[in-house]
Amino acid sequence: MIIAPSLLAANLGRLAREVERLNASGADWLHWDIMDGHFVPNISFGPAAVRAMRPLTKLFFDVHLMCSKPEILLEPFAQAGANQIYVHVELGEAVTPLLWKIKSLGRKVGLVVNPPTSIAMAQPYLGRIDSLLVMTVNPGFGGQSFIYETLPKIQQAYAWRREKGLAYHIGVDGGVDFKTAAECAHAGADTFISGTALFSRPSLAAAVKKMRKIVETARVNVCRAGASTGIHREPASAPRLC
Ligand code: DX5
Ligand code: ZN
Repeated sequence: MIIAPSLLAANLGRLAREVERLNASGADWLHWDIMDGHFVPNISFGPAAVRAMRPLTKLFFDVHLMCSKPEILLEPFAQAGANQIYVHVELGEAVTPLLWKIKSLGRKVGLVVNPPTSIAMAQPYLGRIDSLLVMTVNPGFGGQSFIYETLPKIQQAYAWRREKGLAYHIGVDGGVDFKTAAECAHAGADTFISGTALFSRPSLAAAVKKMRKIVETARVNVCRAGASTGIHREPASAPRLC
């Protein structure tokens, strides 16, 4: 299970201190929300911020491009230190060349699906991605409420992965707290991006530990249920979750 704090919720006035907290937190990835003020009505970080933080941490940089023209940003973020780069499936025909470009830059490939978008839009790309991110809020801001109607999309992504013998991570992003993280794990998620619920805690390390325990327990419960009913049997290639 991957726990990924979202830097958007960090105290940006004390970024150096937040990096120390992150390095001591036990988190697996650091999630960067990149907003261009066009694809979403907000602006956040650029490649310079990623480059500045890269030498300060060994964390895997998980870079979420909420941008209308990601093609101009892929190389700058890859060179700045991104390990994985996501683009949105809502970009339509541009998606295929974008996924190839990310791969050609030697980075992990991520695809994001917004709440109003059918998960079926992602199906043509499943064999070419390392991570599928199901947005559980409408993108653009942290601190929003979890949209429960997105849970069946996680289950569908999980079923496709099993049926097709694929190995992509299934991530959730937006309004992920200790309660909704458990529901997402139950639905089949294995990557939990969380901003407010983790960074708002006095101890980031304790919050990461608590969320990891919650999702691992939820997963074990699902697997036990699956074992008795034969659901959740995974192909050998998929991340070992059961
Ligand atoms: C929203 C972003 C999320 C957000 C998560 O557009 O993609 O990563 O920062 O923050 P919380 O967990 O506060 O909803
Ligand atoms: Zn995000």
